Amino acid sequence: MQDQISSLRSIIEDEVGAANDLAALEAVRVATLGKKGSVSGLMKGLGGMSPDERKTMGPLLNALKGEVATLIAARKAVLEDAALDARLKTERLDITLPVLDHPSGSVHPISQVMDEIAEIFAGLGFDVAEGPDLESDFHNFTALNIPPEHPARQDHDTFYLAPDANGDRKVLRTHTSPVQIRTMMSKEPPIRIIAPGRTYRSDSDATHTPMFHQVEGLVIDKDTHLGHLKGTLEAFLKAFFEVDAVTLRLRPSYFPFTEPSMEVDVQCSFDGGMVKIGDGNDWLEILGSGMVNTKVLEACDLDPTVYQGFAFGCGIDRLAMLKYGMNDLRAFFDADLNWLRHYGFRALDLPTIAGGLSR
Ligand code: PHE
Repeated sequence: MQDQISSLRSIIEDEVGAANDLAALEAVRVATLGKKGSVSGLMKGLGGMSPDERKTMGPLLNALKGEVATLIAARKAVLEDAALDARLKTERLDITLPVLDHPSGSVHPISQVMDEIAEIFAGLGFDVAEGPDLESDFHNFTALNIPPEHPARQDHDTFYLAPDANGDRKVLRTHTSPVQIRTMMSKEPPIRIIAPGRTYRSDSDATHTPMFHQVEGLVIDKDTHLGHLKGTLEAFLKAFFEVDAVTLRLRPSYFPFTEPSMEVDVQCSFDGGMVKIGDGNDWLEILGSGMVNTKVLEACDLDPTVYQGFAFGCGIDRLAMLKYGMNDLRAFFDADLNWLRHYGFRALDLPTIAGGLSR
């Protein structure tokens, strides 16, 4: 009987050692310690033994049972470790994989176009300037040569805030031109800035939304002239529309803050409903511009006998629509996920002149 126990022990030892996964080990456990297992079978035999036999065999069988349980537990720990190792290996996150193709967030076309514009003008030596959306009447109108009684005030469908204790009413800026004032009042020329941002007018249809976007440009120096304005706009539009050449048409116009003032049209064609910028038989009005009015320079404490310069203001939403082929301005602000996925840009693809603005 004792021989039987020790040979069973060595067989079980081999079986446990040979179990290569948790399922095989479980099978060994059932075959030994399970109800109908070999060890349990021997234990059952104790009942039919004489008291003397039972006295010697009982402790031996109990010891065997304990040893087998310990063997199995030890093997189980080893196998579980190995299983965890294997799982950790397959579940490893490879952080060297590019995240670009993960369909998560995307850059809104307006942000994309703002980045493109900033990139182009940075190449021409322009800084980006900012001003508040909530403007004083002075910056939005008066300093821009639009005093309270001026009829041009009626051209802007202005959102006014309630007057403060002094009776001053703030406005949601109706254009980015107040950033011209803020810049000229805080910096010495030479000045070369663009100011992209949100603007507001009480207006709403397929081509107007109450909130829209403009980019202002301002250059002030001692001998800045109209030729510089035209050259700057040509360089900008060529780079923006990614074409080799653009033809501009400067039409006389009126803005209180520029003199002379002109609207700028770019030559284009409309073939099969597609706008092509660069050449063709049509003209597309694209921005307002002019030489900064001497009254505006004076309002900013700049001597108009020393300094002069140009300014322009351009609707960003329209630029985006022209370049990327959208036809309803309102969709820009609907936050429709399908639209955003279709027209959005990949988050880590920053526009650069060298790498391509809009790959
Ligand atoms: N601020 C003008 C507008 O909103 C555009 C403009 C800016 C015109 C600068 C001339 C110079 O229409």
